[in-house]
Amino acid sequence: MSVVIETPESLETIRFFAAMVRKHSAIVLEDSKAYLIKARLEPIGKLHGCSTLDELARYVRARASDAALLTEIIDAMTTNETSFFRDLHPFTQFKDTILPAIIERRAQQKTLRLWCAASSSGQEPYTLAMIIRENFPKLADWKIDFMASDISPSMLARCKEGFYSQLEVNRGLPAPMMVKYFKREGGGWRIRDDLRTMVDFRLINLIQPWPLMPMFDIVFIRNVLIYFDMAEKRTVLQKIRKTMTPDGYLFLGTAETTFNVDESFHRVSAGNATCYALTKPV
Ligand SMILES: C[S@@+](CC[C@H](N)C(=O)[O-])C[C@H]1O[C@@H](n2cnc3c(N)ncnc32)[C@H](O)[C@@H]1O
Repeated sequence: MSVVIETPESLETIRFFAAMVRKHSAIVLEDSKAYLIKARLEPIGKLHGCSTLDELARYVRARASDAALLTEIIDAMTTNETSFFRDLHPFTQFKDTILPAIIERRAQQKTLRLWCAASSSGQEPYTLAMIIRENFPKLADWKIDFMASDISPSMLARCKEGFYSQLEVNRGLPAPMMVKYFKREGGGWRIRDDLRTMVDFRLINLIQPWPLMPMFDIVFIRNVLIYFDMAEKRTVLQKIRKTMTPDGYLFLGTAETTFNVDESFHRVSAGNATCYALTKPV
């Protein structure tokens, strides 16, 4: 039976789940997102023998210390929309301006540290890995620490798997790169092992304490802060700033900015793209 959200009890249920998701992930879900909560959580309810969301809420309330159930709910409520070369311009800026600048500055130590936070199913970190392999052969003898992370265990499993459907590779992946860096497997495409092992995939919730991390030269954290309120955006950006080298760069999503959120960053624009730096622009 589907949930009638107009009833007070059901609205309370919607708000119960919204509060839970906000507390544990920072994702803000207004009442207008009731349909999303319903669509994402009803299948979980069914798995636990609950036929309505109200029933699932009662089930969850009775199991307040069930961490696996909480993870299942948060995982289901994440929006994992992504694609290879998403929005294209940031990757052009990364390839043409930002990475060459960092490579020049790190020529002595020959180390490069990248973090792709909120990496969803892996298209973003693998896009970066392909750009590096394709355009920067001189990095072959460098030490590259490339970490990618997400809050979602199911997305992280997909990242590690490195397997994409035909539909997913059709979204943004140029055919020559598909042929060069993926191998056909069943109905889909698997990323080459040397690219898969280039990236260290970690489960990291941006609003919980982070593991010990190196200082990163380049951080991608795209299309996740849009789901957070201003206070959480600010807190996360401040934490990111502290994990960046002073001359490092930050890439945000097209609809995101540091402007009026954390004024210690400034814009670095090239062509149609903008990223952010803590020091002087290149
Ligand atoms: C829309 S996807 C963005 C994927 C990719 N960065 C891109 O731009 O194509 C947002 C990702 O943020 C993750 N996410 C949401 N809240 C998070 C949190 N508190 N900590 C870490 N990741 C989170 C979700 O699991 C999801 O995979």
